[in-house]
Amino acid sequence: MTRVLSGIQPSGDLHLGNYLGAIRVWAQLQHTTDAFYPVVDLHAVTVPQKPGAIGTATLRMSQMLMAAGLDPDACTIFVQSHVHQHSECAWLLECTVSFGELSRMTQFKDKSDRQEFISAGLFTYPALQAADILLYDADEVPVGDDQRQHIELTRDIAERFNSRYVPTFKLPKAVVPAAGARVMDLQHPTNKMSKSLDSPRGTIDLLDDPADVTRKIKSAVTDSDGEVRYDIAAKPGVSNLLSILGAASDRAPEQVAEDYSMYGPLKADTAEAVVELLRPIQARFRELEADPAETSRLLAVGATKAQTVASATLQRARTNLGLLQG
Ligand code: TYM
Repeated sequence: MTRVLSGIQPSGDLHLGNYLGAIRVWAQLQHTTDAFYPVVDLHAVTVPQKPGAIGTATLRMSQMLMAAGLDPDACTIFVQSHVHQHSECAWLLECTVSFGELSRMTQFKDKSDRQEFISAGLFTYPALQAADILLYDADEVPVGDDQRQHIELTRDIAERFNSRYVPTFKLPKAVVPAAGARVMDLQHPTNKMSKSLDSPRGTIDLLDDPADVTRKIKSAVTDSDGEVRYDIAAKPGVSNLLSILGAASDRAPEQVAEDYSMYGPLKADTAEAVVELLRPIQARFRELEADPAETSRLLAVGATKAQTVASATLQRARTNLGLLQG
């Protein structure tokens, strides 16, 4: 059976970009593959956190994932730091990736530009991500477009380890959805929608109430030529609305464009489609939020399943590298 792995950082709540670019695909894949979905709390601590905040955010993110359709009976949801093999394997991979390769990562360049304190962990972040993936012998990694570069680097690291020592790791491939792979900020449509950008009016949080969703979409930045056409370079704002509505209604954005000649109706229908998409997720989240002990129990079950796979792969890597057995 195809093995799938993908992770999400517990920094802020899920937004529409995470959902359309990744989580929705994760929920589909859980029924046809052997899927592992960690909440990657160790990645989130590459930037400073308020004391105690990360644990609360991790629990909440886990509940959001379950609310968004991940079923702990159908896939393995767990917390990255509960499976210590991730950190241990990351060290072996840090020693297999070069300074130059890490320096070329666009996520590092973007994030470090926004940090006063640039941690060494922020720089070596992709080696930890490679460990997340390689420990599970993942065939496929369903992600939004922004993560392609990290998955390519993961393949390069795996290939180098395999050729330097003994074939050990499987080479994974990125799976990026055709629609929704890059949801842009509604106010700054040339930037991707992101929880780390401070743009509350440009980001739709999955827990936003219908009035907020509608207000944000109706005030989305478009342009002044008035023509509805899918053209990312010339019309980023309108194209973003077309892709959101397309992703929400399983159509190509070009096809959606054929139904509209004015921005007003396009915005109204996009708002309505997003409100309907979020309604059941919000209802389910409220139920899960009321029972944190049950979420913790499910996460413990997930961690145990993950450890079984991760410890076998790490042992293989240690042996193949030739570390003295303890
Ligand atoms: P993160 O936490 O930033 O995002 C989680 C997932 O959401 C996708 N995504 C988007 N998709 C479309 N439009 C957007 N505006 C948008 N914003 C985010 C991301 O592509 C991602 O799939 N480094 C990863 C976390 C990670 C990981 C892993 C992923 C750690 N280990 C192993 C895959 C496999 C990250 O920061 O994602």
